[in-house]
Amino acid sequence: MKQLARELQVNLGERSYPIRIGRDLGNDISGFITALTKEGRQGAVLIDDHFLNSQPEFSQQIISGIPHLIIPSGEGSKSVEQLTRGWNFLTASKIDRSGFLIAVGGGVVGDLAGFVAASYLRGVSFYQVPTTLLSMVDSSVGGKTGINLEAGKNLIGSFHQPDCVWADLDLLNSLPAREFSAGMAEVVKYGMLADRGLFEQLLDSSVALCPSSPALPELIHRCCSIKAKIVQADEREMSGLQGGRALLNLGHTFGHAIEKVAGYGTYLHGEAVAIGLVCAFRLSQFLGKCTKHSESDILNLLTSYNLPCLLKEPVKLADLNLAMYADKKVKRGVLRFVVMEEIGDAYCIEGVQSDLVDRVWTSVGAIA
Ligand SMILES: NC(=O)c1ccc[n+]([C@@H]2O[C@H](COP(=O)([O-])OP(=O)(O)OC[C@H]3O[C@@H](n4cnc5c(N)ncnc54)[C@H](O)[C@@H]3O)[C@@H](O)[C@H]2O)c1
Repeated sequence: MKQLARELQVNLGERSYPIRIGRDLGNDISGFITALTKEGRQGAVLIDDHFLNSQPEFSQQIISGIPHLIIPSGEGSKSVEQLTRGWNFLTASKIDRSGFLIAVGGGVVGDLAGFVAASYLRGVSFYQVPTTLLSMVDSSVGGKTGINLEAGKNLIGSFHQPDCVWADLDLLNSLPAREFSAGMAEVVKYGMLADRGLFEQLLDSSVALCPSSPALPELIHRCCSIKAKIVQADEREMSGLQGGRALLNLGHTFGHAIEKVAGYGTYLHGEAVAIGLVCAFRLSQFLGKCTKHSESDILNLLTSYNLPCLLKEPVKLADLNLAMYADKKVKRGVLRFVVMEEIGDAYCIEGVQSDLVDRVWTSVGAIA
């Protein structure tokens, strides 16, 4: 039965949009598509391959009567090849400037479709139907779109806000448990960066959350609210050391380096972020901050979602440091970290002594 549990608005002037959170939202979405089509607007869908096979009923509801392109599952689809496929598909589907594109999938399809929509005819309307926890709490909101190059992740892209996001929690029922856990790493990140109450709520709950948990809609709402607030204040990540959008990278400076050095695919993004969150907490403590919570709180919370707190295989400290400096977030050769005054209160810092960073890396299993 349809339950629209929560709705919030991302306020960005003429680029504002709602995020609708609930269960059984298929009719809502297909009704919306029909209404747009009746206005004479031609639409198209980019849909994740695995998702289509895992949730055929929902998928059919969305794609019936509208051209759709199936995107192979996995990070490899954030590619020039799939981008070109997307453009050609929109041309073949006769999408004009009044047309629209709907992304149905996780962060991969969302990022790809968002960039297809941003670049096709200098930009057409774009809607997100996120199907992973990570994409519901993070990637579908905020307008970052893009693809990867061999030289690195997300090197090509643009800001292109969606016109609406529907987070239908029933779609998570078919999501592999490991992917759900990876999304929980981002949820924990939100608590650590801006919402101590959220962090403590997660810590206090005796059972780990799952797709059917009644608490999940509220939790997703809370994460999206934090992201919306940050994006509203700094849509294009221009805030520099004041933080702004860069705060969303808590745990990611370390996490991206882990993903790169271990080889993409060894860790899910959320798994690398989990280790990165441990690193960010330890760095904060080495800087004399974060005294109100013990490290075991974070370790226990991450472990309760089967998330790693240590590197699976030791990797070289020097390689991790090299990867950190190669990150596209590094400005003028200066490495910036997101650390916490206390849990729930993050800030950006530059000029951290390298021996502190080395101590952090060693503590999660890096070797000389
Ligand atoms: N734009 C942003 O702001 C932003 C933020 C964070 C991450 N990202 C990007 O998001 C991507 C990761 O997203 P992700 O974690 O959602 O991964 P993903 O899109 O690769 O999805 C993970 C896996 O789950 C499958 N899947 C998706 N939904 C399913 C469902 N409901 N049932 C069964 N299987 C399903 C997919 O086929 C895939 O195998 C990365 O490329 C990352 O760079 C973007």
